[in-house]
Amino acid sequence: GAPRRVDISKIDSGQRITVEWRGKPVWVVRRTPEMLENLEGISDRLEDPESKEPQQPSYIEGHARSIKPEFLVVVGICTHLGCSPSFRPTEGAEGLGDDWPGGFFCACHGSKFDLAGRVFTGVPAPTNLEVPPYRYEDDGQTIAIG
Ligand code: FES
Repeated sequence: GAPRRVDISKIDSGQRITVEWRGKPVWVVRRTPEMLENLEGISDRLEDPESKEPQQPSYIEGHARSIKPEFLVVVGICTHLGCSPSFRPTEGAEGLGDDWPGGFFCACHGSKFDLAGRVFTGVPAPTNLEVPPYRYEDDGQTIAIG
């Protein structure tokens, strides 16, 4: 089918929007510099910090798991049994672990992901969240998913 076009220009810094793509929720998060900083230095607590398992297109590289660091594009379905995790961009305050930098939390069985969709160790979800194929259109303000 045709790619799903998303205007990303109106997403506020630190906010997430959800769009539908092939019947799945896809999240686009505009990450703040602090959120990007929080992706570093936690590799030892992640199951697959370099995303070696194929949950993303080959052109997606690095710990931010995105084409442009500011914008995360990820399928919003838990890789355990398919629940929809909630957006918890700030850490610990909600009793989910003092040293969790925040990200996505799946209430079904307690899986935690960071703001790159990388899964933490010691939770049921086996892999990082899926990054769908996408690209930027020439205007730089629109992404085309699929
Ligand atoms: Fe998310 Fe089980 S479905 S932790």
